[in-house]
This record gives sequence, C-alpha cells and structure tokens, in this order.
Amino acid sequence: MKGLILSGGAGKRLRPITHTSAKQLVPVANKPILFYGIEEMASAGITDIGIVVAPATGDEIRQAVGDGSKFGVRVTWIPQHAPLGLAHCVLVASDFLADDDFVMYLGDNMLEAGLAAFVDRFVSARTGSGTSRSYGGAPSAQILLARVSDPGSFGVAEIGPDGRLLRLVEKPEKPPSDLALVGVYLFDKTIHDAVEQIEASARGELEITDAIDWLIAEGYRVDHEVLSGWWIDTGKKDPLLECNRLVLDTFGRSIEGDVDDASSVDGQVVLEAGAKVIDSTVRGPAIIGSGTTVEHSDIGPYVSIAADCRISGSEIDNSVVLRRSTVSDIARLTDSLVGRDTVLSRSTRAGEAGRGGADGPEGPGPGAVRVMVGDHCRVEIE
Ligand code: TTP
Repeated sequence: MKGLILSGGAGKRLRPITHTSAKQLVPVANKPILFYGIEEMASAGITDIGIVVAPATGDEIRQAVGDGSKFGVRVTWIPQHAPLGLAHCVLVASDFLADDDFVMYLGDNMLEAGLAAFVDRFVSARTGSGTSRSYGGAPSAQILLARVSDPGSFGVAEIGPDGRLLRLVEKPEKPPSDLALVGVYLFDKTIHDAVEQIEASARGELEITDAIDWLIAEGYRVDHEVLSGWWIDTGKKDPLLECNRLVLDTFGRSIEGDVDDASSVDGQVVLEAGAKVIDSTVRGPAIIGSGTTVEHSDIGPYVSIAADCRISGSEIDNSVVLRRSTVSDIARLTDSLVGRDTVLSRSTRAGEAGRGGADGPEGPGPGAVRVMVGDHCRVEIE
C-alpha cells in the first residue's frame, strides 16, 4: 500500500497567507497541517509516500518535509504544473503509484480518527477475491463520508436502500443526502482507467467524484464508511481556527520556558523551551513557541503562537500567530490568523479615536479586532 498526499492546489480561500506560502504548511498548534497527514500515514504503516506539489510552493514544502526520514517514511515528489483537479493528481502520480493499492489524502485536511482502521478494512476486503466488475468482487475503492450541515458545498454521496453507494455529486444544488466526501480515499489500480476516461468539469478540473462515479457506473464495488469524530478541511480561516482549538484540546501541560513571578500560566499550556512569559496571564489551551516573548499581555484560550514572536501589551484569544511576528498594544485580538514576519500594532497616532468596536455591532466586541493578515505585513490599528 502506497500513500499519495495532495499538497498542490491554488489555496485561494486562504489568501493572503497563500500568496507567499503553502496552505499545507500553515501551523495548527504550531505544527504544519501537512505533518499531521504524514504522521497518520506512518502510523498506519504506509512508508512509501508520494507528495503532489505545485510550482509556486513545491520548494518550500520539500524543504519542510525533507526526505521523509524524520517521519520514518520515504517521500517521492510529484510536481503538478497547474491545479487541474484531484483526479489529475492521480494522473500525474501514475508512475509512482504503478499497480499498487494506495490511500489518497488531501494535504489540508485533518481528521480525528486515525487512518489505520480505515486502511485495514480495505486491505482485508481485498484479500481473497480479486477486483471484478461484478459487485460481489473485492472493492476497487473505499471512501469516507461525514455528516455535514451544508452538503451543497461538498461532494455528496447518494446511498441506496440496501446501503450501497449509488453515486457521488460534486457541490449539488439539491443534495441527495447530508453525507459529504471526506478527503481520504482508498483505491486499487482501476482508478487509473477512471481518471483517463473522465472529462474536465465545468470548473475545468478533473474531479475525483467523477472518477469514483465512473467506477460505480462500470460496476466496480466502491465501499464507504461514515466517519465518527471530527474532520476539518482547513482551507479557510475559521475551520483552521476550529482545528487549532480541537488539537489544542488534546494537549496536556508542559512548561519548559520561563515564567516570571508577576505572571500566571493556567491549564493546558505548552510553553516551549526558550519562550518567556513576563507580567502576563496565559490561559490554556494554548501553545507558545520557543524564542517567543509574551509581556504585559493576556493570552488564551485557544491560542497558538509560533516561534520567535513578540507579544506585548495585548490580549489574544482564539487565534494563530505565525513565526517571527509582533503583536503590540492591541486591546483584543480574536478569531485571527496572523502571517509570518508581520507587525500588528496600535497606531501611536490613535489616541482614543479607535476605541469602542472596530468591527461594528456584529463584531467581536468593544476594542476588539479580528484579522487575517498575510506574511511580511505591517498593520497599525487605531
Ligand atoms: P482544494 O482545497 O479543494 O483546492 P485548492 O487548494 O485549489 O484551494 P482553493 O479552493 O482555496 O483555491 O484542494 C484540496 C487539497 O488538494 C489541497 O491540499 C490542495 C490539493 N490539490 C492539489 O494538489 N492539486 C489540485 O489540482 C487541487 C485542485 C488540489
């Protein structure tokens, strides 16, 4: 069994962060999203992994992952010249995949349940009988579904009265169910025929839903499983922050950095070695990276601050701050994603003029700001 992780794409929904960096490298609880997927594969026993990358972000991802040895896996890099769809990724990976069964995983997705049980089920369903076009044969694919409240934004499954998967539809106007396709798929080599047979969709992509639909229409068996536990497509800010909260909730307490006598650090807080907390309160769940200084501030809950940041005179909750950034004198920063090497500060010209609700009546509250700022920015808030 091989692994294929899709880490290209355009990342339009996470702009401006994705103008300068890959969305799969945005950290959740201070670890790139992509690393969770690689670790999941390794713990499911999959060590031969192909990673699909785009021209603009491929080098950065290669540099972060290396040859895979730090995860105990071997990585083969697969360039995709343009984001032409998930099924196109299978097409460009065909030399790497050869005739092997494989698990395909979207590099910006995260799920609570591990991959191991899902993979084991496919392996045992395929042992004994070969894939055939009679439904009684071994499955040629296995998909994972999750119940969602807004199925119209996803690939959606229609299940027959006997429990069989009848078809998949991409972002339907009238969803046949509330079962959305989760970004983890298992395939045998038959998928290569499927991706060659299908045509690009109206949005110009080769859709994996169409390829799976082709398998069903040709009589191949496609098994499905409904996920319990959470699953998040982190490709937008708010789901990313939700994912950050869910992962931080699983953390214990570990204080390796320095906390001065005027500070209090309460609950599930990870303070990495070399981090400093001065005259501040940190309320968990939260993680503060090495080399970061927090002074005269109130941090948490649900905050991840990466390494080498400087936070002073500010309150931050439910937010992710990337490497080497500064947040200073911000009355309250909430629901925010702050890029790398960015300075977010209160304007020295501001006086009292900006107090009392930067975000209007529906906003995060008096004096609070909610932002998504890219890398290398300088923002002054009045
Ligand atoms: P998506 O989030 O569906 O697509 P995208 O990355 O283009 O994002 P946006 O809609 O915000 O522009 O992609 C899911 C995952 O698959 C993600 O990790 C990127 C990857 N991907 C590829 O590697 N190649 C592709 O052609 C596409 C469409 C996605």
